[in-house]
Amino acid sequence: MSVPAAVFASGGGSNLGALLEYERRHEGAGYRIELVVSDREEAGAITRARSAGRDAEVVPTGTRPDEDVTPELLALLERSGVEAIFLAGYLRLLPGELVRRFQGRILNVHPALLPAFGGKGMYGLRVHRAVLEQGSRVTGVTVHFVNEVYDEGAVLAQWPVPVRSGDTPESLAARVLSVEHVLYPLSADHLGRALSKGRQPSPLDPFSELFLLGLDPPEYELGHQIRRAFGYT
Ligand code: GRF
Repeated sequence: MSVPAAVFASGGGSNLGALLEYERRHEGAGYRIELVVSDREEAGAITRARSAGRDAEVVPTGTRPDEDVTPELLALLERSGVEAIFLAGYLRLLPGELVRRFQGRILNVHPALLPAFGGKGMYGLRVHRAVLEQGSRVTGVTVHFVNEVYDEGAVLAQWPVPVRSGDTPESLAARVLSVEHVLYPLSADHLGRALSKGRQPSPLDPFSELFLLGLDPPEYELGHQIRRAFGYT
C-alpha cells in the first residue's frame, strides 16, 4: 500500500526527480507523490513535477505570518489526501501547527552527517565549504524526521561519504548529492511502508547488502569497509 505524499522544494528538485524515478521503477513503493509544493514559482521542482503529471502548487511565504500560510498549506495537503511529507531542499521552516499535525510523518534530507554541519543557514554549498574548512575526512547524508527546529529531528538514516584530497565545495556537493538520490527514496519508501501498516519505522540500516547494491563502486566499497568495521558478516 502506497502512502499519498507531498514533496516540498525550493530549488532545482533533483531529489524530487530521484523520488519520482524510484516510484516509477518500484511498483509497490511505499509512497506516491500526489503533490509538490514550492515557495518559488521559478523553482525547477515545479517544472519537474508538472512534467511528471503531478499537481504542483506555489505557496509564497516571504514575510507572510504563519497564521496566513498554515491554512493554505493544510488545505492543499488535505485536498490531495497527503499522509507524509518529504522536504527536498525546502528553505523555509515549516509552520509549527503543520509539523505537529504531521508528527512522525515529515522527512528532510540534509547533505552532511547531522548533528555536524547543520542548523539555520547551513544549506547548499555553505555546508560543503564548512566541511572542507574543518578538515573533515568524512561527510555524508542524513535523512531525519522534522520537528520545529532546523535539522534537529530524530535520524532515520545516515550514509557516510568520503572527502577526497583536492575536493572543492562543488565536487563534494556532487558526490554527496548522488548518495542523497539513493538514500532519500529508500528512506521515503521505508517510512511509507511502516505508516501504511500503522507503525513508526525502525531506523533504516544502510549497511545492509540490499542497500549497498544500489550504490556506485566507491560508496559500495566504503559501505563494505564500514560493514566489516561494525562486525557485519
Ligand atoms: C540537497 O542537497 C538537500 O540535501 C538539501 O537541499 C538540496 C536540494 O537539492 N536539503 P535538490 O533541489 O533536490 O537538487
